[in-house]
Amino acid sequence: MADGTQSKCRAVCLISGSGTNLQAIIENINNKSLNIDLISVISDNPMAKGIQRAEKEGIDTKIIDYSTFEDRKEFDKSVEIQILDLDPDLIILAGYMKILDTNFCNIFSGKILNIHPSLLPKYKGLNTHQKVIDNNEKYHGASVHFVVPELDDGPVIIQYQCEVDKNDDHHSLQKKVLQGEYIIYSKALQWFSENRLVFDSGNIFLDGEALLKPRLIRKD
Ligand code: GAR
Repeated sequence: MADGTQSKCRAVCLISGSGTNLQAIIENINNKSLNIDLISVISDNPMAKGIQRAEKEGIDTKIIDYSTFEDRKEFDKSVEIQILDLDPDLIILAGYMKILDTNFCNIFSGKILNIHPSLLPKYKGLNTHQKVIDNNEKYHGASVHFVVPELDDGPVIIQYQCEVDKNDDHHSLQKKVLQGEYIIYSKALQWFSENRLVFDSGNIFLDGEALLKPRLIRKD
């Protein structure tokens, strides 16, 4: 990978929807703050706006339409075959809303990063912004983590934290959190692409040191 003597980190991005995280990643690649070769963008949803974003940039896209498969196993196998064929160094989940099967997580262990809209381990799963409001939380945010077979459970690399204001609703919180997602995801991706970030036997190492708690960026 990218350390001056080796080739660039080859990444595949999996999306299901709007793709604003993908857009931020593409912009950071284009302005050279992210040294990644985004070889393909894959969506399980043919209507995902992120596909248009990738096409506009001339990036290869693939649609593996979930609705056309007989069962979940066949779909999972098809995603696995496509990605094995691309042989990436890194798999970036950016709003990919399908749960990856255990086999996939094991094959690509240490190579899959995900962004989740909460301060993990709080609020795994869906509707995180509304849950945060319902529970009168003072803080909310986002987390980037390595993916393991258990949902939203892999070790967390970096988090973004913002305050929840009295007037916040689901939409305003989503907007605030997304702004932070773009910052922390590109940071984690850059560390990975420079071989500074490693996942080994369930532990994270950053610059050769065990990362015992996630790096934290607070909204100023
Ligand atoms: C982001 O908020 C991301 O954290 C979340 O989906 C949104 C995708 O937005 N991911 C998950 O909830 C995964 N569990 P985007 O398509 O505009 O990047």
